[in-house]
Amino acid sequence: MHFIDERTLLIENFPRLHVAILMDGNGRWAASRGLPRSEGHRAGVEAVRRVVKAAPELAVGTLTLFAFSGDNWQRPANEVIALLDLVESYLLGEAANCAAGGVRIRVIGRRDRIPPSLKAAIEAAEAVTSQGRGLELRIAVDYSSRDAILRAACWMLSSLEVSQAEFARRLGEVTHAGRSSADVDLLIRTGGEHRLSDFLLWECAYAELVFVSKMWPEFEAGDLEAAIGEFGLRERRFGRVPAVVAGD
Ligand code: IPE
Ligand code: IPE
Ligand code: MG
Repeated sequence: MHFIDERTLLIENFPRLHVAILMDGNGRWAASRGLPRSEGHRAGVEAVRRVVKAAPELAVGTLTLFAFSGDNWQRPANEVIALLDLVESYLLGEAANCAAGGVRIRVIGRRDRIPPSLKAAIEAAEAVTSQGRGLELRIAVDYSSRDAILRAACWMLSSLEVSQAEFARRLGEVTHAGRSSADVDLLIRTGGEHRLSDFLLWECAYAELVFVSKMWPEFEAGDLEAAIGEFGLRERRFGRVPAVVAGD
């Protein structure tokens, strides 16, 4: 581990974090360079590689990346195809490296609308990395938080009383998360917009939100470290009074 300043002390006191990233700004990054949007998505994959490499050293235990939303189907067909192809080739190309590096891949979202070849790549990547214990890398594909909450709620309709834990378990099942839907500690959105765009609405109930103006292809390991440092300075109260007041 190498941390570079006094925030380190705070970071080291945390259990391993669940960091979610809304990777936004690929299209604008490309447009500002006179490139097609697909080039922005390609450059975005390089940023994904950088953060996946850096995450375990920064005390991240789970990293959830928003790659393709349920609403992204509304984009032009060629962009949809380019995005889904990039996810597929990332999985095909990286699964073995991830397995060797202790990274467990899980893909969350719907699987009934994606191309069969992508579904096969997901299943293969999940199988080959299933023993990874260093980092859980969750990639959200055809993911809509509202859709997941709705489907979990329908599933529970016959139950009279449902605990939050049971609902989270169902939410995990409908999104193929492989376990209970996990609370997010820190949500980062690049690209300068300040919204959640249907990402992890239930799981972000008490997430700390960090908005970064950089476009996603420009995001570096140092930006992840800075966001985690910012997280370390926040006081999470979960509806309680500050610790200093409680101790009075
Ligand atoms: C994020 O970049 C990638 C996906 C949504 C899949 P965008 O494609 O949304 O880029 P902008 O926001 O148009 O710049
Ligand atoms: C959210 O970004 C989806 C992903 C990052 C995959 P969008 O670019 O689709 O969100 P809006 O349209 O700006 O809300
Ligand atoms: Mg966008």
